[in-house]
Amino acid sequence: MANVVVVGAQWGDEGKGKIVDWLSERADVIARFQGGHNAGHTLVVDGEVYKLSLLPSGIVRGGKLSVIGNGVVLDPWHLVKEIAQLRGQGVTITPETLMIAENTPLILPIHGELDRAREEQTSVARIGTTGRGIGPAYEDKVGRRAIRVADLADPATLEARVDRALVHHDALRRGLGLEPVDRDALIAALQEVAPTVLEYAAPVWKVLDEKRRAGRRILFEGAQGSLLDIDFGTYPFVTSSNVIAGQAATGTGMGPGAIDFVLGIVKAYTTRVGEGPFPAELKDADGQRLGERGREFGTVTGRKRRCGWFDAVLVRQTCATSGVNGIALTKLDVLDGFETLKICTGYDLDGERIDYLPTAADAQARCVPVYEEMPGWSQSTEGARSWNDLPAEAIKYVRRVEELIRCPVALLSTSPEREDTILVTDPFED
Ligand code: IMP
Repeated sequence: MANVVVVGAQWGDEGKGKIVDWLSERADVIARFQGGHNAGHTLVVDGEVYKLSLLPSGIVRGGKLSVIGNGVVLDPWHLVKEIAQLRGQGVTITPETLMIAENTPLILPIHGELDRAREEQTSVARIGTTGRGIGPAYEDKVGRRAIRVADLADPATLEARVDRALVHHDALRRGLGLEPVDRDALIAALQEVAPTVLEYAAPVWKVLDEKRRAGRRILFEGAQGSLLDIDFGTYPFVTSSNVIAGQAATGTGMGPGAIDFVLGIVKAYTTRVGEGPFPAELKDADGQRLGERGREFGTVTGRKRRCGWFDAVLVRQTCATSGVNGIALTKLDVLDGFETLKICTGYDLDGERIDYLPTAADAQARCVPVYEEMPGWSQSTEGARSWNDLPAEAIKYVRRVEELIRCPVALLSTSPEREDTILVTDPFED
């Protein structure tokens, strides 16, 4: 049985929600392996809209096991809220349907405060984070001062962990002009939330190993996008986790051999939320039109997304760094009605043509996109369910994308409805 990893192949918001939902129906286990509640996945199942940011998408379907892996940073108070909200919508959540890795680091209120305080410093360029404490929580993880799920079970360990974290945080807060942390209030708040979190705590690596041996299908659900990866993204304008497919193994405790197929989610054009380089960004009427037609507003923060033409250079790069076997191309219908479409096929860097995004920030800033023009189509592609429903120009556009990114289309999504999908390759059966 194949296990599938789904990753965003651009800057996030590629339309992963629908694809992950479609795949999770066919999976037995759905596991998150990085990020936290900075993600925003909207699922529409039988007309009901579910908004998830921390819980795996499989949670809304009965009979599945949803897993939060150790690669995630978990805000326990947000967890309680999201569980309550979903229960209010009739979703059943029990320790049989949700498991949280015991070695998952927690996001504390002080992480959110620090994240926002840093973003307000005007002396350095803002990252444009979601303000949810993601970066500071990962810093504490690698700084070996995080409080992890398992620490909540023993009051003495919890106090010792909090004290270790506060030696660092109080010093930092003094420098930023923030009040020292109220240690006792923080411990009390953690003790209060502990029973809910511990109810779902499990040795996830072991459970997944057993599921795999029993031939169960595992879907690894990525959040954000590969260009926000801490190593391979547009650093420092990135999130603080590894987003690329290799993280599915480390972020759950499985070996890399557990991954059989990597599905990259790719939008038919490009968007980005927050600050940072974006060579093919459009600040004109075309960009405005992509944003309006594509309803490009952030699910988590409501921010307007920056829009641009499809950048094949970047997607070729992320397909390589994530080892993408096939892509799901989404939102093709947003391109309906453009007379001419452009695809970025390379960059001009100081008069030289290059075929990848350089790592140095100053070189990135000097990259001028080189475009190839293609005729658009006037017919609607919205809701197409077979290649025959697509105008010839749209098929040509898709074929050209495949050629340029050196990766085939496995799925083509033509509307938010799950049935409006053209299936070329089933990732679980490949
Ligand atoms: P952070 O993850 O909150 O630290 O934000 C770092 C960067 O990642 C910012 O540019 C955010 O806009 C971006 N980001 C984080 N999560 C998402 C997401 O789910 N979709 C798109 N961008 C995201």
